[in-house]
Amino acid sequence: MCEAMPYQDASRPIAERIDDLMSRMTLEEKIGQMTQIPGNREDADAWAAKGIVGSFLHIMGQTTQDIQTIARDRSRLGIPVIFGIDAIHGHAFWSGAVVFPTQLAMACSWNDELIEEAARITAKDVRATGVHWTFSPVCGIARDLRWGRVNETFGEDPHVAGRLAAAMVRGYQGERIGDPERILACAKHFAGYSETQGGRDSSEAEHSPRKLMTYFLPSFKQAADAGCATFMTAYQAIDGVPCTANRKLLTDLLKNDWNLDGFIVTDWNNVGLLHHFQKVCPTMKDAVRVAVEAGNDMIMTTPEFPELAREAVTEGILDEDLIDDACRRILGMKFRLGLFDEHRMTDLAQIPRTVGLPADRQHALECARQSIVLLKNSTLLPLSETVGTIAVIGPNAHDVTAQLGDWSFGSGQAGFQTDEHARDDIVTVLDGLRRLAGPNRNVLYARGCDAVETATDDIPAAVDVARKADVAIVVVGDTLDYVGEGCDRADLKLSGAQQQLLEAVHATGTPLVVVLINSKPLTVNWLAENAGAVLEAFNPGMCGGEAIAEILYGMCNPSGKLTVSIPRHVGQQPMTYQQIPGWHGPGKYVDLAKGPLFPFGFGLSYTTFGYSNLRLGCTSIPADGGPLAVRVDVTNTGDREGVEIVQLYVNDIYSSVTTPVKELKEYRRVPLRSKETRTVSFELWPEQLSLVNAALERVVEPGEFDLFVGASSAEEDLLKTCFEVTEPAARG
Ligand code: BGC
Repeated sequence: MCEAMPYQDASRPIAERIDDLMSRMTLEEKIGQMTQIPGNREDADAWAAKGIVGSFLHIMGQTTQDIQTIARDRSRLGIPVIFGIDAIHGHAFWSGAVVFPTQLAMACSWNDELIEEAARITAKDVRATGVHWTFSPVCGIARDLRWGRVNETFGEDPHVAGRLAAAMVRGYQGERIGDPERILACAKHFAGYSETQGGRDSSEAEHSPRKLMTYFLPSFKQAADAGCATFMTAYQAIDGVPCTANRKLLTDLLKNDWNLDGFIVTDWNNVGLLHHFQKVCPTMKDAVRVAVEAGNDMIMTTPEFPELAREAVTEGILDEDLIDDACRRILGMKFRLGLFDEHRMTDLAQIPRTVGLPADRQHALECARQSIVLLKNSTLLPLSETVGTIAVIGPNAHDVTAQLGDWSFGSGQAGFQTDEHARDDIVTVLDGLRRLAGPNRNVLYARGCDAVETATDDIPAAVDVARKADVAIVVVGDTLDYVGEGCDRADLKLSGAQQQLLEAVHATGTPLVVVLINSKPLTVNWLAENAGAVLEAFNPGMCGGEAIAEILYGMCNPSGKLTVSIPRHVGQQPMTYQQIPGWHGPGKYVDLAKGPLFPFGFGLSYTTFGYSNLRLGCTSIPADGGPLAVRVDVTNTGDREGVEIVQLYVNDIYSSVTTPVKELKEYRRVPLRSKETRTVSFELWPEQLSLVNAALERVVEPGEFDLFVGASSAEEDLLKTCFEVTEPAARG
C-alpha cells in the first residue's frame, strides 16, 4: 500500500495540507477547483475523473456519491468535489423534505430563532442528500415590487434583512464549519442587485456609493460577521461596473475589509455576461481575466472558463497568484468541511431517518403560523362556531405550486429535476379547512377562475357556492408565472379573472374573507375596502394551508407583521417606509391617497395591544458611549393571549446628509396573556445611530434624535420621545 501524502493526513494542520496539495497540482487542476458546472451534464463524470472541476451544482442523492467516488478513485490527486444547490426555503427540490415559507413570508414572523431553526433543518436535509452548500440567504432588500425576485428577500428593511440573514447563516453553518449535519451558506447577490430600475431584473442598479453603503451593504456585512463562508456576486452593474468585475467590492471590501476567509462564487455565467450582454469585455478571455482579477474564486457555469483561464495565465496576461489564492480558499473550505477525510461520502441509506421528520414538518407549520399577517378584520375572524357552511373559492385555494412558491418543484428553476413532492405532504387551504372543520362545519369548493387566464366562465359556479354558504373564503394572489427570474411585472394588480371573481362573490352578500397567497405585495385596494377580513400569507410553504385554516378557525392567533409596505398603486414604486424628507407638497401624489395601503411593520391580532410609559435611561449619550436604555410597557388589552412584535425606530433630526424619516433599529416578539403587561427593554448603541456621510465615512453625528416605539411604522401606531447624542466623551 502506498504511503499517504501529507495533504491526506487528517492530523496535520489545514494550512500545511493545502500547501502540500497545491505543490502537487498542475495549473489545469488549480483552475479546475475554480470551475463549477451543472452536475446533470452528460460529461460530468469525465470532468470529475480528470480532476478539473471543483464543484457541481443542482444535483443530489446518488449522483453526488457517484461523482464523488469518481473524483476520489479516478482523478490524479483525488480532490473531493463540493456540491451546491438552491435550497433557499427548505431543501425544496428534494421530494420528501419540508418546504418552508419563502424568505419574504418567514420574515413576517420577525423571529430570528424560528428562521435559524428552519435553516438548520434545511442544512440537515441538504447534507443528508450528499450536498454541502446552499446558495442562500438572499441579503438584498426589496425595493421596486415589480421585480420578480421580491419573494426571495426578507423585505425592505436593512435591519430586518441583516438580522434574519445572520440567523440563517448560523442555522446553515452551525457553530463551526465541519459539523456533518451542516452546510456552507452563501450570501447573495453581492451587491445592490435588488435595486432594479423599473423592477427589471439584472438591469443596471442606480447606486451612489453612499446609497449602497447605507442601505444595501449592511445586511451582507451582518452575514459576513456571522461567518458566512461564501458570497455570490450579483448579475447587474453599478455605475457601469458589473459586480463580477468590481474589484473594489469583491476584493477590497469583502475579502480585505470584511476578512472573508471563504470564497466568492459568481452567479450563473456572470463571466459570459461580461462579454455577451454587458459588453464590457471584448473577448471571453478578457472576461475571464477581469473576473478573476476582481476577486471571483469560483466561476459558475461558464464552460469556456477553464481553457481560457489556462491560456491567459500561460500568455502572461493573468497572474497565477490569483489562481492560487482562489484555489487555496476553495480547498480550505473543502478541508474544513471534512471532505478530504471522514465526511467525504454521505450515507444515503440514512435519508429516510433524517429527511422530512415529523418535527421538521411541525417546524414548517410553526413558521407558516408565525408568517401570516392579518391585514384587516371586522368581526368575521376567527370564524365562529355558528358558521356552518364555508365556501372555499379561488385559484390559489387548492394550488400546490402557488403555495410552495419559487425555487421548489413547479418553478422554472427545477428544470434539472423531474421529481415532485408527494401530494400528501402538502396541505392546501382547502385541505386545511376541510381537515380542521370539525363535525359541524360543511366545506364547499369552487375554483372560480384562473390567476393567469382571463376567462370568466367558471365564476357563476363559484357564485352559486358562495350563495349557499355562511362565509366565502376566497384565496387569490399570483402564480409562478409572475415570480422569479425573467418574471418581472409591469403591474401589481390581481391577474387573470381574480378581481371579477371577488366582485361577483362579494355581490352575493355572503360575508367575504380573502386570503392572499402571492409572492409579493399586490395592489389590493378593493379588497382592503370591501372584504370583511384579509390575511396575507405570501408563499406559506408545505404546511401553509393548515396554518391558514388554524387562523381562520381561531385555533391560532395571527402575529405576523409586514416586512414590506403594501402599496396602493404600482406608480408609487419604489416605496419603502424609509422615505427621505423633502418631497414638495403634501407628501403624496395628487391623484392618490397618501402612503401605503398597509405600512411596513403592520399586522393585526385577534387580541389588541396597548403601549404606554415609553421612557429612556437618560436623555443623552456620548457618541462613543452608550447604550441608551429604552423601556416601554406593552399590555395585551384583549381577551386572548397573543404575540406582539414591538418595533423601535429612530429619526436623526438634523444630520449632515439627508436621512430617512424613520429607521428601524430594534424589534422584539413579546408573548402576552390576556390583560398582561410587560416592560420591554431595548439597548440602543451609538453605532446603531450612525450614518454614512458625504465623505463616505460611517460616523455617529452628535445631535437630537426622535425615538419611536410601537406596533408598526405608521405614525399613529408609535409613541415618541427624544434624546441627544453628544460629542464623544473621549474628546470632552
Ligand atoms: C440565480 C442565483 C442562483 C443560481 C443557481 C441564478 O440564476 O440568480 O440566485 O443561485 O442561478 O441556481
